[in-house]
Amino acid sequence: MISVKNISKKFGRGTNLLSALDDVSFNVEDGEFVVILGQSGSGKSTILNLIGCIDSPTSGTILVDGVDVTKMSAKQLCEYRNKNIGFVFQSFYLEPAYSVTDNILLPLTIAGAKRQIKDAKAKELLEKLNLTDKANAKTSTLSGGQKQRVAIARALVNDPKIILADEPTGNLDSASGAEVIEILKEICKSGKTVVMVTHNEEQASVADHIIRLKDGKIIFEK
Ligand SMILES: Nc1ncnc2c1ncn2[C@@H]1O[C@H](COP(=O)(O)OP(=O)(O)OP(=O)(O)O)[C@@H](O)[C@H]1O
Ligand SMILES: [Mg+2]
Repeated sequence: MISVKNISKKFGRGTNLLSALDDVSFNVEDGEFVVILGQSGSGKSTILNLIGCIDSPTSGTILVDGVDVTKMSAKQLCEYRNKNIGFVFQSFYLEPAYSVTDNILLPLTIAGAKRQIKDAKAKELLEKLNLTDKANAKTSTLSGGQKQRVAIARALVNDPKIILADEPTGNLDSASGAEVIEILKEICKSGKTVVMVTHNEEQASVADHIIRLKDGKIIFEK
């Protein structure tokens, strides 16, 4: 379970001080599909980044299975993130000159995994994301939907418990977007927790749990 407790996040200082999140608390059960809604600037990406430990809060705690991730050292955080979190972003963040396979395997390559392990993982994820025929294509040659499937495969490569997706369909046409939502639903069904940020109200229909933010506060939850 992820337990977000009294989280505040301020950026800047003095007259530039901006409160991006103000005393936000909620729980995410294991295996839930959570959708975070809200207008631009409401704090959606900020809360996702805090759950994913790519930023730290000004105050409050985030417990994941009882462990306070806001108190971890840099080394602990790195290990925690690699093992537990898979990130998917609106703008994919792929290496354009690398092949689909090499992009998917990048986290394993950085970790120094053995060839045998990498080959098996590549085969499994290429099949799962329906990318086998694109295995050797450079990602710069792919469509948006295909790029996002590569990014999702890469997010799954370490078999994390939690997938965090920040507007994963934001750069996609509606058909590719719907496909990405279906894939995320499947991933959730396979036992992972999915937390997705979106502007798209229709996408909230896939959620087990909806959180709506406004000006850094939760204004609705169900
Ligand atoms: N690194 C930063 N430095 C200063 N202010 C920031 C920073 N990151 C976010 N903010 C501010 O915090 C507020 C919340 O930003 P956030 O990115 O979480 O919004 P969002 O809901 O994800 O918006 P969008 O839908 O446009 O992506 C905004 O006012 C934003 O300008
Ligand atoms: Mg955002």
